[in-house]
Amino acid sequence: MAEKRRFQAIKGTRDLLPPETELWNRVEATSREVFGTFGFGEIRPPIFEPTELFARAVGGETDIVSKEMYSFEDRDDTSVSLRPEATASVCRAYIEHNMHAWTQPVKLYYIGPMFRRERPQKGRYRQFYQIGAEVLETLQQGQGGPKDIAKDAAVDAEVVEMVMTFFARLGLEGVQLEINSIGHNAAECRRGYVEKLRAALTEVKDQLGEDSRRRIETNPLRVLDSKLEHEQPIIEKLPRISDHLCDDCRKNFAEVKRQLDLRGVVYKENWRLVRGLDYYMRTTFEITARGLGSQNAVCGGGRYDGLVELLGGQATKGIGFAIGEDRLILSLLEARKEVASDEWRVASGRIGCDVYIAWMGSDCQVAAIKAAQELRAAGLRVELPPVELKFGKALGQADKVGARFALILGEDEVASGQWTVKTLADGTQEKVSAAEMVDWVRRKTGAKV
Ligand code: HAM
Repeated sequence: MAEKRRFQAIKGTRDLLPPETELWNRVEATSREVFGTFGFGEIRPPIFEPTELFARAVGGETDIVSKEMYSFEDRDDTSVSLRPEATASVCRAYIEHNMHAWTQPVKLYYIGPMFRRERPQKGRYRQFYQIGAEVLETLQQGQGGPKDIAKDAAVDAEVVEMVMTFFARLGLEGVQLEINSIGHNAAECRRGYVEKLRAALTEVKDQLGEDSRRRIETNPLRVLDSKLEHEQPIIEKLPRISDHLCDDCRKNFAEVKRQLDLRGVVYKENWRLVRGLDYYMRTTFEITARGLGSQNAVCGGGRYDGLVELLGGQATKGIGFAIGEDRLILSLLEARKEVASDEWRVASGRIGCDVYIAWMGSDCQVAAIKAAQELRAAGLRVELPPVELKFGKALGQADKVGARFALILGEDEVASGQWTVKTLADGTQEKVSAAEMVDWVRRKTGAKV
């Protein structure tokens, strides 16, 4: 006989259980509602893609691609990877489905699991969930001039406004938005800056940690992300991108800020916000929230003009973000610590029980099943015990599942067509006719049809 073995979820993955899943559903429903009001439609890309897609889009030198992807050889010897993020997939889908021919811009959102082999800790998992959105627009002839700088800025600001609206709707606390512009990939803009930064870093190389020393060659911008205490004063003295933006990028960033102001979105500038994915240009942003410890970024995003082209499509602009849903939920729960998790159960109104049907006698089971069918068809939450229980036991059970009413169905009730309904909160009982039952419960619970 096989040895007995208890299995556990793989490190960095976890089961999401009720009642917390009710909160997840509520958060997702709210995102759909809010994003819908901004004209976004849902896309559901696959969970795995060719490894090469992420290597190209996110960047072969990034931590995500070089260290954190779950990649494997498929049976036909092609390399596939569990998606570490979804922007690459959305761009792949945009090209594959000729979305450049759709009404522009194309606004899409997604909700689902992502996979990164990071060191697990609070707010950091190997399977985590993102709620993200992307706005894509293929350039028409004659586009791409100075007018676009203002237009892009307004699009960026509206995308940020959408996330902030969503967070406000959820009552997320301690929300702080940081923005930056990392310019564009040209000698007179970011490329020139990166060379200056590399030179400055080389001068202080001996004072830097191992990671930062390596990044001087591979990706000097990422040194700005360092959280190492002793590197902070060194980083503060490094050249800043804001002093090296080209004219267009500078104008664009000023306009992004003006557009955020117009929308009443409060932000802080952070010149060190460079983000860990290679596809960004110009606007980048991150949002933090309360109660998350060191993993406090609840949303990250930015502009990625050119990514669709890099993946074989036409010249296309892009801007988007992804919210870490696990962190969002953690922060919401943290703020509501004093409220028992049952609060979510009641607030969400999905699990729990409106009516517990206590029945005794095989004739009564038929009536009980019919009553359960009618009540459920009216959207009410019903518990029907699978075997008959003595009424005392049934009422105890009704209490345990938190039912509001117990419907008592014995031989007398079935014979008279008058059912006994007990309100569990105060123990009162009344008779209600079988025909009026559904309306009666609906009225009492305030349930909608
Ligand atoms: P990201 O900054 O890599 O950006 O991830 C976005 C958010 O996902 C983070 O701010 C964080 O809340 C959450 N997150 C990332 N890794 C983990 C993890 N291991 N555990 C829990 N949560 C995590 C992107 O993924 C870009 N695709 C965002 C984007 C869309 N940019 C443009 N469009």
